[in-house]
Amino acid sequence: MDLVALFFCAPIYCFRSMAFQAYLFRVTAMNQAFDPKPPLPDYLTDYYQWAYTTSRAVKFWDRPWLVNLILWGNYRRLSNAALQHIEGNCLQIAAVYGDLSKRISEKLAPNHSLTVVDIAPVQLANLARKCPHINLHCQNSSRLQFADDSFDTSLLFFLLHEQPADVRQKTISEALRVTHPGGKVIIVDYHKPKWWHPLRWVMAGAFKWLEPFAGEFWDRPLARHLTNNAKIKVQETFFSELYELTIIEN
Ligand SMILES: C[S@@+](CC[C@H](N)C(=O)[O-])C[C@H]1O[C@@H](n2cnc3c(N)ncnc32)[C@H](O)[C@@H]1O
Repeated sequence: MDLVALFFCAPIYCFRSMAFQAYLFRVTAMNQAFDPKPPLPDYLTDYYQWAYTTSRAVKFWDRPWLVNLILWGNYRRLSNAALQHIEGNCLQIAAVYGDLSKRISEKLAPNHSLTVVDIAPVQLANLARKCPHINLHCQNSSRLQFADDSFDTSLLFFLLHEQPADVRQKTISEALRVTHPGGKVIIVDYHKPKWWHPLRWVMAGAFKWLEPFAGEFWDRPLARHLTNNAKIKVQETFFSELYELTIIEN
């Protein structure tokens, strides 16, 4: 009797097990395709843990006056410069300390929304606390999971100088891909100041010490990152050229 049962049940068991394996394989493949919880990139854990990836860092740094101090008193000015160009559905690529995201969401018309992506869950949790009505996604800027042409405006606020050159290139390409033709990619970041700028050597020293990719970012004009039909439409420098706002149009 047992042998008969085994004879009939074994194939069913094998088939079920194979079907389950196939299901698991499909789920894993889907997860890989959509990257549900992307890992922190090495450069972030190696060089920026002190600034972004722990709740202690968030608690310490997320003070508007401190962000303003780091930007030599220019936080408001640079935020305002970006804000005046933002319109339609907006994607902010990477969280920022201070109140910029809140101000963007307040500026948008009621039928438009702000979406923020960041790779660090602790940053998204902090933003959720500060601005409960924003759409938040844990994504890598170099591999965004939005369809082409999803947004009217994309904003990169002081992200690019923190990324290694290959990641930076992909981030810019991804920002252009998800922004629809005729839309804007707004970049606010460091710019190489003139040799006589009193803070040039202070900043160069700080970059060497804390921000290993920023020096190379200074030396390579943004135009060199552009491919296809993307064009620089606006370029404006601030604080004797230490900062720059660039607007790229697809
Ligand atoms: C926008 S940048 C610097 C902003 C500026 N220093 C400030 O906070 O005001 C910092 C953010 O970029 C995020 N970030 C860095 N690399 C990223 C990546 N590849 N994809 C998504 N977010 C990233 C970090 O987790 C961090 O929250």
